[in-house]
Amino acid sequence: MAFSKIGVVGCGLMGSGIAQVCAQKGFRVVVREANQELLQKGLDRIKGFLAEGVKRGKVQQADMDKTLANLKGTTNLRDLADVDIVIEAITENMDAKKALWKELDGLCKRETIFASNTSSLSITDMASVTQRQGKFIGMHFMNPVPLMKLLEIVRPEIADPATYESVRQLGESLGKVMITAKDTPGFIVNLLLVPFLCEAVRAVENGLATPQDIDTGMKLGCGHPMGPLELADYVGLDTTLYIADVIYGQFKDPKYAAPPLLRRMVLSGRLGRKSGRGFFEWEGDKRKGS
Ligand code: CAA
Repeated sequence: MAFSKIGVVGCGLMGSGIAQVCAQKGFRVVVREANQELLQKGLDRIKGFLAEGVKRGKVQQADMDKTLANLKGTTNLRDLADVDIVIEAITENMDAKKALWKELDGLCKRETIFASNTSSLSITDMASVTQRQGKFIGMHFMNPVPLMKLLEIVRPEIADPATYESVRQLGESLGKVMITAKDTPGFIVNLLLVPFLCEAVRAVENGLATPQDIDTGMKLGCGHPMGPLELADYVGLDTTLYIADVIYGQFKDPKYAAPPLLRRMVLSGRLGRKSGRGFFEWEGDKRKGS
């Protein structure tokens, strides 16, 4: 199935990035947020990213204009009734996701494919509340979506081969390199990444080294673009903790248990980039002093 119109639900950090890359590649996109204020914030983030791209000479002004013309924001889920695929990027809460999918299942065309950008939750579980289990799949984008090349496709056993093929073609049109994961907790990327980030937090907790030295070790010693603690801040310490808890909750293996320091930092509101302070200090999207 060739897509022409794409629905994105959620215009936060991930949803706005997904909506942007789809619109940039020529798809008509309707992106839905829960209220006007959140929608405006998301659309402004897209405009800001494109404007920065123009400033850096990475995006042509005409492409920016075309992208924005392809984008329509809405607070009404009904505006997604005629899309070919819905990509969901709302909060990581299974009950909220199931309620959304149930509603969309009643609204969308029978052929519409449903894709979740969840970082770790079960696609099969979400699909179970709909009448289109063969048309349900995971499309896990990486943050920041417009700059990261990877798209992790999460392929549940129940997904039709045609659904998988259509989504692969879409990923290609978006210019992404794809990997395919089974529908297991954390899929591939987060199953490996999150324990690594947690191990770095444990190193701080155990006083092995300073956050700065741990990060410098991995950046200059192993060629990582960001050290694990900066990356945990960047992803969000709450998100990192959430994914760690999901993976541990499924496997019950102590090697996946979140370090208490991470939990305490989240409880005290030190969430990383989004709250201005985590292991490092942040100003907007940038780490202070970087
Ligand atoms: N428009 C177009 N291009 C832009 C741009 C914009 N607004 N902003 C930056 N760029 C381009 C730059 O021009 C630059 O291009 P070149 O390489 O050709 O010079 C490139 O993007 C990098 O930009 P910067 O120099 O400003 O930034 P950087 O070098 O510090 O890289 C980064 C930023 C890409 C985020 C890099 O630090 C990085 O890769 N970090 C790791 C991110 C990561 O691991 N993400 C995955 C998180 S895990 C996840 O997402 C899964 C989950 O479920 C939790």
